[in-house]
Amino acid sequence: MISTEITLPCGAVMKNRLVKSAMTERISNKNFEPTKGHEKLYKDWSDTGAGLLITGNVVIDRKHLESAGNVCFDDSNMLSKLRSWAISAKSGGNQVWIQVSHSGRQANKFSTSRPLAPSEVQLRKMGLFGKPKAMIAHDIQEVIAGFVKAAKLSKEAGFDGVQIHAAHGYLLSQFLSPSTNVRTDQWGGSIENRSRLLLTIIREVRKEVGDHFPIAVKLNSADFQRGGFTEEESLEVVKMLDAEKIDLLEISGGTYEKLAFFIMNEEGSELKESTKRREAYFIDFAKKVRAISKLPLMITGGFRSYEFCNEVLKNGEVDLIGMGRPFITNRDEISGFLKGEIPNLKNMVLRTGFKQFEDSAEGGFYARQLIRFSKGKKFKPNMSPLWCSMFLVLYEFRKAMAKKFA
Ligand SMILES: Cc1cc2nc3c(=O)[nH]c(=O)nc-3n(C[C@H](O)[C@H](O)[C@H](O)COP(=O)(O)O)c2cc1C
Repeated sequence: MISTEITLPCGAVMKNRLVKSAMTERISNKNFEPTKGHEKLYKDWSDTGAGLLITGNVVIDRKHLESAGNVCFDDSNMLSKLRSWAISAKSGGNQVWIQVSHSGRQANKFSTSRPLAPSEVQLRKMGLFGKPKAMIAHDIQEVIAGFVKAAKLSKEAGFDGVQIHAAHGYLLSQFLSPSTNVRTDQWGGSIENRSRLLLTIIREVRKEVGDHFPIAVKLNSADFQRGGFTEEESLEVVKMLDAEKIDLLEISGGTYEKLAFFIMNEEGSELKESTKRREAYFIDFAKKVRAISKLPLMITGGFRSYEFCNEVLKNGEVDLIGMGRPFITNRDEISGFLKGEIPNLKNMVLRTGFKQFEDSAEGGFYARQLIRFSKGKKFKPNMSPLWCSMFLVLYEFRKAMAKKFA
């Protein structure tokens, strides 16, 4: 049942199976530190009763931001602020893990015009991303060290675990994908070589944090792009991960080019009929993962009903239920949902009527709600979809300028 506790391989205990998946907050201060806004946001999420809260992208490098409002865990001088965030985020007796990430070529031009990436394959989306520079051996070592440092700071600050972000087209996902990694050295070519960076980071982080600190990995089932990372390759990576000391595998899918993790709701035509009926986007893929791996498994995307969540837990299809948007649209109903008093968390669908703006409208809508929550304001269902679609670019520009001149 969703309300049943679970013990992870490292010994950590989660009080139930509901996980708030990572959602970028975009509200760091000028020094890339967490703010009182983070404390408010996570205290309220902690009060929902969910067993685990995973933070939004926390980056290891200020030049490779996913958002100008990212927190960056690269400096031990910020420990006291990190501690305050951890304390509020765990006040309800839940676990809280930091999602550690590097954006690679998905770092927008507001943070760098020359992002580092496995190869010089540029992301073409609204002219927002610069031509990447292929990483040299030294850059790769710096990225490994950056992940280790962020994990060290997470543990020192009192967070309960880390999630290494290897999904959604960010740097580690770029290394995994043959369309963005065309290297011919030990970091490119075969799937073993393309996985080397992820596996090295996991091992180095494990050395740093010890055996009893949860390490999770977020992995794409596929990129959903021609020539990209496929389900078959993802299953190869799962087999390799299975031999590592990790505590949770979260499955998602898609990149900035194809926002499968985000936009495939009931109006999305991407889903097979069988998956639509079964509500969670990656449930069919989860079965294939189960067949080859013993890792605790979570999928995220689409879960909305109490009955279905319990059904897939009871059948052993997954061990944990990951949810994102319901922690925004239905935040006040989550505790009732966990008790079975609220059977369904309604999905909001926001449409501008213009195909090219739908992603940004949805992204802007949820970003604005998170910013409202961080200020102690309530969920606002009625927002102009067109304004939401423009909001993010303007917000990111303003936030980046404030940092540049800080
Ligand atoms: C506003 C917002 C921000 C997100 N930020 C992140 C992020 O920082 N890292 C990540 O791995 N996924 C991120 N996601 C994806 C979610 O973790 C989740 O995979 C997605 O929302 C699908 O789950 P859902 O149908 O329960 O919302 C974000 C989603 C939303 C709505």
